[in-house]
Amino acid sequence: MPKASSRTHAEDKATTLSNLEQRIAALEALQEVALTFSSELGLNRLLALILSSAVDVMRASAGSLLLYDPAQKELVFQVVQGGSGKVLRNKRIKSDEGIAGWVFSRKRPVIVHDAAIDPRFLNRIDRNFKFRTTAMVAAPLIYKNRCIGVIEIINKKSGEKFNPDDQDLLLAFAGQSAVLIENARLYQQVVAERDRLLAVEEEVRHELARELHDGPSQLLSAVIMGLRFLKQVIEREPARAEAELAELERLSTQALHQVRNMLFDLRPVALETQGICAAIQIYVERQSGDTNLKLQLDTDASKIRFEPKVEGAAFSIIQEAVGNAKKHAHAETVTIAVKKSSESLTLSVRDDGRGFDVVSVEEAYAQRGNLGLLNMKERAELCHGKLTIDSEPGKGTTVTLVLPLNEPRRSARLF
Ligand SMILES: Nc1ncnc2c1ncn2[C@@H]1O[C@H](COP(=O)(O)OP(=O)(O)OP(=O)(O)O)[C@@H](O)[C@H]1O
Ligand SMILES: [Mg+2]
Repeated sequence: MPKASSRTHAEDKATTLSNLEQRIAALEALQEVALTFSSELGLNRLLALILSSAVDVMRASAGSLLLYDPAQKELVFQVVQGGSGKVLRNKRIKSDEGIAGWVFSRKRPVIVHDAAIDPRFLNRIDRNFKFRTTAMVAAPLIYKNRCIGVIEIINKKSGEKFNPDDQDLLLAFAGQSAVLIENARLYQQVVAERDRLLAVEEEVRHELARELHDGPSQLLSAVIMGLRFLKQVIEREPARAEAELAELERLSTQALHQVRNMLFDLRPVALETQGICAAIQIYVERQSGDTNLKLQLDTDASKIRFEPKVEGAAFSIIQEAVGNAKKHAHAETVTIAVKKSSESLTLSVRDDGRGFDVVSVEEAYAQRGNLGLLNMKERAELCHGKLTIDSEPGKGTTVTLVLPLNEPRRSARLF
């Protein structure tokens, strides 16, 4: 008898050792993923590395990694290895559908011994992709208590069932992987934001070049030609010189005015020194007279100040809204209104132009590559303001920004 019990003990030890070895292998595999993965490789490469390490470590033959898409409330097969392979990639299921949905919605791992008789299993996936899933172990990808996806490992190569140790191992692996995935996503977001800012900067530079070319540069050419002509006039017809000089003075003043407007647009110093209301007043004074458009100001506020970043964002929104009215509206009058109440300052830009269908413009935004409306919204969020765009074809457009005067303290928002 003692012999038998000592053999069991030895067997137990061997099993524990093998489990430990598998755990160490899993951690090493993940460390390897973290080391080889460089942010520039992109999220999909990272997901593929994570999945293939998990399939190897679990000694399985297939697997898939799904990420949650909060916009559609669906799980997306991001990477699939073995089994139904690439065909399944980017396919979507509801976030509570199938075994992955079960794991996702309960944030719990699961072992399935025979998928064919498990009511949660989506037979259509195997049917459609001509694969037979028998055993499966799946774990949620949890980051800061939020489930961001699911990793599924399918069919052990040995044909054995998955056991609770396998499940624990996958769960630990999934937890570490979720951190890597979130970091890679953050990096992607930062890169996308940087590219967007670079695109905006490029556009601003182009616009400035266009304005300089069409405005002051043309005027200065005219002044130079006028001066050459003036030389001849002085020799031949001195009596006409005075009229020519007056015209040259008019052109030079106009060029100076345009350059000052551009400087103001680039860096409205009044915004920093006197605040948003004064800056809007100066902006209106400078703009009127430049075009046929009538730009008017309706204000009952003057000395309200906000944080510099709020004033900068609000002023940019006004500039973009007036710019849009000039560019697109074919309006006769644009009115900037600045109204104060006990809780808020309301800034609005109203034009009597042709208006537009806001919903369809916003829907087509991704393909159009315009940035104006999007920038306005982002800036409004930045200054904790509320932005609304009211427009209808034929009925003009009103862009309204409401800035809270006493922003509630962040701690008060906790409940
Ligand atoms: N005041 C307005 N009147 C009429 N149409 C407008 C007005 N404002 C915006 N639009 C419409 O909405 C679209 C999107 O505006 P948005 O400011 O995002 O882009 P844009 O002005 O064309 O380009 P960008 O601002 O990036 O230089 C415009 O192309 C135009 O069709
Ligand atoms: Mg615009």
